[in-house]
Amino acid sequence: MKHAVYPGSFDPVTNGHMDVMTRAARIFDSVTVTVMHNARKQGRHLLTLDERLDVLREATAHLPNVRVDSFSGLLVEYMRLTNNGVIVRGLRAVSDYEYELQIAHLNRQLGDVETVFIMAATRWSYVSSSMVREIASYGGDVSKMVPPASEAALKRKYQQV
Ligand code: PNS
Repeated sequence: MKHAVYPGSFDPVTNGHMDVMTRAARIFDSVTVTVMHNARKQGRHLLTLDERLDVLREATAHLPNVRVDSFSGLLVEYMRLTNNGVIVRGLRAVSDYEYELQIAHLNRQLGDVETVFIMAATRWSYVSSSMVREIASYGGDVSKMVPPASEAALKRKYQQV
C-alpha cells in the first residue's frame, strides 16, 4: 500500500489544491490531506482550523481514498507518528520550486521523508489561497477558483449570505 500526505494551510482549499489531491489520489492507494495547525500562525488565518477541516471534508467527499486530518507541530513528526509514506506538494510554476525544494530537503534531513511534487494543471497556475481571500474580501467572484464549500465559507466569513 502506498500512502501520501498532502500538507498545507488550505485557507481556503482552492481548485489548484483539489487538482493536486485528485491526481495524488490516482497515484497512491490513500492520501491524507493534513491541515498543519501552526500555533505561531494562529490569528493570521482567515478560516479557523475547524472551518478549514469542514470545508476540506465537504470538498473531498467524492474522493473515496482521501481523508482529512490536522496536526500541530513539525510535518516530519506527523509523518513519523502516522507512518504515512511520502509527502505530496503541488507546483504551479517555476517560482514555487525554490521554496518547495528547500522544504523538501529540510524534511528529508529532519525525518528522512521523501517529497513528491505534482504539477497542478496550468489553468490553476494563477490561483492561490491568498489571492482568493483578497478577491472574496472585496466581494469578487471566486466561484471558478475554489470548490463550492470554500466559496460558501468565504461568503459566510465576509457576511455576504
Ligand atoms: O499551504 P502552505 O502554507 O504552503 O503549507 C506549508 C506547510 C504548512 C506545509 C509548511 O509550512 C509545514 O510543513 N509546516 C509545519 C511545520 C514544519 O514542519 N516546518 C518545517 C518545514 S518548513
